[in-house]
Amino acid sequence: MKKVIAANWKNNCSKDFINKYFSFFNANIKINQKSKKEIIFFPPDLYLDLVSQSIKDLSGINYGCQNLNINENNTTLTGGSTSAMLEDMNCDYVIIGHSETRENEFNKSLKSKILLCKKMNIIFCVGENSLERQNNQTLKKIFSQLDELIESYFDNMSIIIAYEPVWAIGSGETPTLSNISQTHKSIKKYIIQKLPSIKENDIIVLYGGSVTEKNAGSILKTDFVDGVLVGGASLMAEEFTKICNIEF
Ligand code: 13P
Repeated sequence: MKKVIAANWKNNCSKDFINKYFSFFNANIKINQKSKKEIIFFPPDLYLDLVSQSIKDLSGINYGCQNLNINENNTTLTGGSTSAMLEDMNCDYVIIGHSETRENEFNKSLKSKILLCKKMNIIFCVGENSLERQNNQTLKKIFSQLDELIESYFDNMSIIIAYEPVWAIGSGETPTLSNISQTHKSIKKYIIQKLPSIKENDIIVLYGGSVTEKNAGSILKTDFVDGVLVGGASLMAEEFTKICNIEF
């Protein structure tokens, strides 16, 4: 199965940053038709067009958006980006339910977002906070978040989950490899139980939270890990290119 290596740039970007970033990345990335990997960039919406123009014309490198907005009651939403607009920008992917945006979202709005994605593949984020971890509530929390996705499942929807423990994001801490593996295995098992038509190989589970050049290789080689969603380290062209060039 191919590995997914995704860069979530969050709210960091400028035109100059993109120009410098891709002049390094395009010159140093090792990817070809046979590579069993897909690289995905998630820039802020304002820079989607520039990123799409900057990506070297190679299959296996795509881009997407970090969220989408819905106007629940058909009202207007100043500053919002709708799924139709993001699909018009040819986004291949959308991140839904990142812990940094979940705070202001209700279960119902996450489900509405999922149902609006007609062309974009969803990367659905789940993960426990430190209190839930201390109280051994990790899987309970993750399963309840997975239910949001499962209840909105539609035919031919690709299932891509990012397991991002909230306490690991930006902290320099990560779960042990064995914990990551067990949690990913449980995520796959739970989805198959609830959606028996889905095969294990159809479920992609990425790990996110303090992934760096140093730990990416071992995380990517861990059982049940299908890729990584990288935050801070993806902002450094050299470091992210090294992560992308890891051989499996
Ligand atoms: P860090 O890699 O900076 O911990 O962020 C992870 C993340 O939130 C990716 O979506």
